Amino acid sequence: MKANEMFIESIAHKEKFWAEQAEKIEWFKKPTHILTDDGENYPTWFADGELNTCFLAVDKHVNDGFGDQVAIIYDSPVTNRIIKYTYSQVLEHVSKFAGGLKKLGLEKGDTAIIYMPMIPESVFAMLACARLGVTHSVVFGGFAPQELAIRIDDCNPKAIITASSGMEVSRRIPYLPFVKEAISMSEHQPEHIVAFDRKLLGNRVDFKNDSSLTDFEKLMTESEPTDCVPVESTHPLYILYTSGTTGKPKGVIRDNGGHAVAMKFSMQNIYGVKEGETFWAASDIGWAVGHSYSVYGPLINRNTTVIFEGKPIGTPDAGTFWRVIEEHKVAVMFTAPTAIRAIKKEDPEGKFLKKYDLSSLRTQFLAGERCDVATLDWFDEFVGVPAIDHWWQTESGWPMLGLMPGIEDVKIKRASAGKPIPGYDIKIFSEEGYELESHHEGYLVIKLPLAPGAMMGIWGDPERFKFGYLAKFPGYYFSGDGAIKDEDGYVFVTGRVDDVINVAGHRLSTAEMEEVVAAHKEVAECCVVGIDDDLKGQIPFAIAVLKSGSKVDEKTLEKELVVLIREKIGPVASMKNALVVNRLPKTRSGKILRKLIRTMLDGKDYQMPSTIDDESVVEELQLKMNDYKQKYL
Ligand code: COA
Ligand code: AMP
Repeated sequence: MKANEMFIESIAHKEKFWAEQAEKIEWFKKPTHILTDDGENYPTWFADGELNTCFLAVDKHVNDGFGDQVAIIYDSPVTNRIIKYTYSQVLEHVSKFAGGLKKLGLEKGDTAIIYMPMIPESVFAMLACARLGVTHSVVFGGFAPQELAIRIDDCNPKAIITASSGMEVSRRIPYLPFVKEAISMSEHQPEHIVAFDRKLLGNRVDFKNDSSLTDFEKLMTESEPTDCVPVESTHPLYILYTSGTTGKPKGVIRDNGGHAVAMKFSMQNIYGVKEGETFWAASDIGWAVGHSYSVYGPLINRNTTVIFEGKPIGTPDAGTFWRVIEEHKVAVMFTAPTAIRAIKKEDPEGKFLKKYDLSSLRTQFLAGERCDVATLDWFDEFVGVPAIDHWWQTESGWPMLGLMPGIEDVKIKRASAGKPIPGYDIKIFSEEGYELESHHEGYLVIKLPLAPGAMMGIWGDPERFKFGYLAKFPGYYFSGDGAIKDEDGYVFVTGRVDDVINVAGHRLSTAEMEEVVAAHKEVAECCVVGIDDDLKGQIPFAIAVLKSGSKVDEKTLEKELVVLIREKIGPVASMKNALVVNRLPKTRSGKILRKLIRTMLDGKDYQMPSTIDDESVVEELQLKMNDYKQKYL
């Protein structure tokens, strides 16, 4: 079946289509209810099925006789180590660690936070939780303790699983101290902190004198293995926090059944990876890509996955991605365009690249942000395998736009993220909710139901889920992105239409940053917008109005705000600039004109909004911006 026919089938005969896909995974109890409407117009998939995601990712392959196949390759240029784990070894570690967690009292229905670097033990922890039916929430290491504390208070974990340290290029990141700091800020107090002691990095954990800590390694080696706990299809496998349009991150809930079906389907049909091949998603496990395509997708599809602890450049050089591809015979790879931009910047002539044999690589997938054509040109010239841009969100957990080399030869259109993937009936809507014709920019929306695997809701906040995604266009999921469709059905994503920005492929909220900036004692009001950046796609830029009478030096304030954002949100926010102005441009109803400010900072042409309260503010702002840019950018 061609991709187009498959798409039509998936929309016209949803239940039949997904029931067939569900046959491709092993259930403890096969679902008979394929699609159930909860009465609120947000359907669930495979509601009466029972399964276990860890079983599908590990045990099944050992049972099927593939125990000796390598499941995980840990490749860590920052610690100079490569370690391989077969499926049998993963099973041993995971079942024993799960046994250990069970001994600590963790059981189905509990939650656990995993705050760990890119090491195999992090994957073992995720799988062990899945094995027990414990809902995990992985928090990205680049977030500061306060962000971790917010998540602790939102999902009330019984345990936090962490490591002594992480390694960012050559800088040691103190994970365990950050966890302790976060717990000291949070109201909820987890019963256990399970810490993996990375002896190699020094900074040893003092288990003897700190009774609040449980030794990860001891728990894993000294516990009895435990079996997979069957869970309902709709049981939450994980909660993954993502940035929204308010200061508070939202916990996207992923189910077990729909997710497993979507993982198997996407690995085979979209990524086109055969069982047994090596698949590498160069992402951190703290992001949706890491969950779906560093851990669950490849393992469920019996691939070898690469857990890479390093950066595309500087660990040690711009050839590191190509070295990993050659050394581990990666067949299909996935990364963010920003990573390729970073490599291109360091290696414009492809000198590093030419040192390696990339013949194993069939396809490169890109997502997380818009991919610029210059980057694609460089990739085509030097790497020469198809680079497929595809679009998805934490909310979907797998691609919603893309191409499907797994089932057909694909035709790539530059700057397009592809066509709707089976299960996602994507439309481009006007503000009034009418479908727009091709070549007209509008809101990217999806007709309900979304495909299996897409979010079940927001943890602890069903109202926010309904209001944020389902209320704007009844019967449709509102993605928060703008887009244009062409006459062949290819979609061009034009970017967020809200306060979410994408910094180096990392999704962040400017609203959250504004809260931090506004809390500075000298700041009366402020706004933070994402401005264009050659490497990271976007970076945040703060504009602040001082309290009357404030005498603070503008550069001193900028430094303080940069530090504040780093401390409160984390280094990953990458904010470097803040500008002090006398007034912010606003509408007559008092709304800050953020889009106008962003356009002005990007040096693009703008039209004076008809709703503006006072046009002279714009002139004033332009002068300030010009001066700042001349001096500092
Ligand atoms: N733990 C602690 N700190 C972290 C971290 C982690 N897991 N990840 C990032 N940081 C820190 C970095 O050390 C850096 O700190 P610094 O300002 O002191 O240097 C800061 O957060 C910003 O990190 P990053 O955005 O990664 O910038 P960078 O300059 O170190 O690297 C790229 C730039 C483009 C090479 C890098 O961002 C990259 O590889 N991006 C790909 C993103 C990706 O895979 N996204 C997943 C979606 S597909
Ligand atoms: P995240 O939830 O972190 O995966 O971020 C999702 C957001 O990233 C989307 O809403 C888009 O704004 C952006 N995004 C992801 N993939 C693409 C893509 N291929 N092209 C353009 N934007 C993308």
